[in-house]
Amino acid sequence: MTDVRKATIEAFKKQFGRDPKMQAYAPGRVNIIGEHTDYNGGFVLPCAIKYGTAMAAAENGTGKMRIFACDINGGEADEFEISENIAKHPDKLWVNYLRGMTQMIARKFKGQVKGLDVTVSGDIPQGAGLSSSASLEVTFGHLVSEAFGLKIPLQEIALMGQASEAYIGMKCGIMDQTISACGTKDHALCIDCRSLKLTQVKIPENLSVMIINSNVKHQLVGSEYNDRRESCEKAAKILGVKLLRDATLEMLEAKKSALDEVSYRRARHVITEDQRVLDAIGALEGGDLKKLAALMYASHCSMRDDFEITISEIDGLVEIVRDVLGADKGAVRMTGGGFGGSVVALVGPENVQQVKDAVNARYKAISGRDATIFETKACTGAQFAKL
Ligand code: GLA
Repeated sequence: MTDVRKATIEAFKKQFGRDPKMQAYAPGRVNIIGEHTDYNGGFVLPCAIKYGTAMAAAENGTGKMRIFACDINGGEADEFEISENIAKHPDKLWVNYLRGMTQMIARKFKGQVKGLDVTVSGDIPQGAGLSSSASLEVTFGHLVSEAFGLKIPLQEIALMGQASEAYIGMKCGIMDQTISACGTKDHALCIDCRSLKLTQVKIPENLSVMIINSNVKHQLVGSEYNDRRESCEKAAKILGVKLLRDATLEMLEAKKSALDEVSYRRARHVITEDQRVLDAIGALEGGDLKKLAALMYASHCSMRDDFEITISEIDGLVEIVRDVLGADKGAVRMTGGGFGGSVVALVGPENVQQVKDAVNARYKAISGRDATIFETKACTGAQFAKL
């Protein structure tokens, strides 16, 4: 049993004075390639990571959810009535993800959701762009579904998680919740974000997935993300398509004069990024690390120059790693929504230590802080067990 699972069981006994009856868990994610393509109906290629959120729970015989988060401010509690219209908490952001999920499930399964006592613990670094909030939503959605026999399919739980983000004010896509729910061991997941078709893509055994956290916190519940989305929607309208997924570079060039310069570049990122995801799947399947490296770096440059979601610390980290890996010893790019967060690298095990050494030696000088580095395998998505 991983530590977060144990922590929730111990905390449950202490907090509620009895044994929990069930446990749920869902991981965070790292996106290998395909950034800001999901809400444009395009392709993404994330995998689930070894860190996640655990919950221990038991029915409490009331109409209320009573939640205790072990890791927030040394332990923070909240409770709310289950209903189809749940007010947001004015200042506890973490509980709003759970309020949102409860509302979404209560609307669909009228009267079937009852009170639960729940303890929560997670080990996904916050603000690192590794989807701690999606993992929280999916863990809780799956817990409620299993606790009351609702049998909500995992991809529907993901959609409810996305709706919970909108409830909070973040108009995100479907990537994070889907991979947290549906991740498969040793595989990345290609999500076609228009049809929601899932395709597993094996990550070659001779590649380590490295995540380097810049320790510059990203905060996505903010205007930058929603702004990007608006620009994309505006560009799609001018190009005469429902989603940028349906646009080509030729269509974009033909309408260039009708678009403002910023929307043009935003759309160019999305259109080229969709193609890079498909090409990267080919490169992974064919074991072509050189091609993968070129695609991931092109993705990074496009995020930096066209989508403008990288920051100098992240750009610096990518260059430090590239200096070690050259053109063919590994691939690296920023991962996640942007404005801080982490860099992902796919590296042969023989180069992992060199990458670590270079980051440890050079990152502080450009950023004034240390990076946190870890390796992960691609992990399994949402899990549930009766205790
Ligand atoms: C955040 C969002 C996702 C996705 C990424 C960028 O993680 O939650 O839906 O848009 O940013 O690719």
